[in-house]
Amino acid sequence: MTTRILLYTGKGGVGKTSIAAATAVLCARRGLRTLVVSTDIAHSLADALDTPVGPTPRLIEPNLWAHEPDVFFNISKYWRTISSYFSSLFSWGGLDEVMAEEMTVLPGMDELGNLLWIGDHVDKAEYDLIVVDAAPTGETVRLLSLPEASRWWIEKIAPIGRRVQRLGGPVLRRIVGVPLPTDEVYDSAELLLERLKYVHDLLADPDRSSVRLVLNLERVSIQEAQRSFTYFHMYGFPTDLIVANRVLPAASGAYFDAWREAQARYLPMVEQQFAPVPVRTVPFFDKEMVGVDRLAELGHALFGDSDPKEFLYRGRPYSISRDANGYTLALELPFATREDVSLSRSGDELVLQVGSWRRNLVLPRLLLDAPTQGAKMDDRVLKVRFAEPPRAKTGGSRNG
Ligand SMILES: Nc1ncnc2c1ncn2[C@@H]1O[C@H](COP(=O)(O)OP(=O)(O)OP(=O)(O)O)[C@@H](O)[C@H]1O
Ligand SMILES: [Mg+2]
Repeated sequence: MTTRILLYTGKGGVGKTSIAAATAVLCARRGLRTLVVSTDIAHSLADALDTPVGPTPRLIEPNLWAHEPDVFFNISKYWRTISSYFSSLFSWGGLDEVMAEEMTVLPGMDELGNLLWIGDHVDKAEYDLIVVDAAPTGETVRLLSLPEASRWWIEKIAPIGRRVQRLGGPVLRRIVGVPLPTDEVYDSAELLLERLKYVHDLLADPDRSSVRLVLNLERVSIQEAQRSFTYFHMYGFPTDLIVANRVLPAASGAYFDAWREAQARYLPMVEQQFAPVPVRTVPFFDKEMVGVDRLAELGHALFGDSDPKEFLYRGRPYSISRDANGYTLALELPFATREDVSLSRSGDELVLQVGSWRRNLVLPRLLLDAPTQGAKMDDRVLKVRFAEPPRAKTGGSRNG
């Protein structure tokens, strides 16, 4: 059986850890061997579960394991060789040894190490379901897109480096002065990138993984979710659910009237923004939702009797393709129409209006400078044409 993966992400503090742990508890109690793993460096699974969680998966209750990977273990596992090279490079540059050692934990590396664990857990095949409590969206998106960016390194730079190293390493080193990476360093870097690509492919597999965005019904949290939604689709990570957490119930009293009204205004907007991906709500509970029983309650509020590991949406409602004349952004809509599409741009947002339907779409960086050329509906798909951005044509700078 393939291990199912559910990854929860969202802005800081929206309830990612609680929702991830709640999903895991619910699934474990329904009989699935479930692991909940945190890839956020600031682990808080132990707080949510209200029990110690360690650097190796620990059984919390029948069928439920929790794992908070250890940064130092990650480092020794994946980049001891690489970091000792960096360390020699830094100390050659004049940094003292302790400082150089510290510097080799580059930003993002520790979280990257956490993500790599997903691959190991899938390989072990000991779980039916892996629930990932991921870092806030920005970090996660950046890390997940890394393999794309690093492929050129494996394919282009590494082979040249290796050749140079073999041909004239010692001589070159004397001339250049800088310590050059050895074959071992290249091996480790390649292994690391290979593992990263593996995890990337696991998370991008629509028959295995679902990314779920947690948000609160507040402007900033919704905006961040929209931005990540765009990126996840662009990079092909299947997103199948939006969780609107901490929705104030009617019984929350007059003091919260203004909050409740604002949330009531935002909810239909969120539903429209993310359609056809479904939105589900979780109430703001009147007590702290920690410990397995409370989490089970939270999970039940989100999923009821439905199966949390079900694919709640299948498809890629958003894609960008490139051809000789520019780009086409295709957006799957929940309806088909022949009405005209109107487009306007404001900052990094594209405002689309079809009849009474309206969506503010956050554009990926790639398209920020690309002029829009028009849009049309093609059955249920809205296609927006973009010309080549000016700087790509001239090959010059933004100002050139
Ligand atoms: N629906 C809810 N009702 C009541 N309290 C909640 C609810 N969801 C989350 N909480 C509480 O809100 C706090 C923050 O939640 P949580 O730690 O899950 O957020 P997070 O998104 O993981 O935060 P971080 O970005 O810091 O990792 C916790 O104290 C949690 O118990
Ligand atoms: Mg958290």
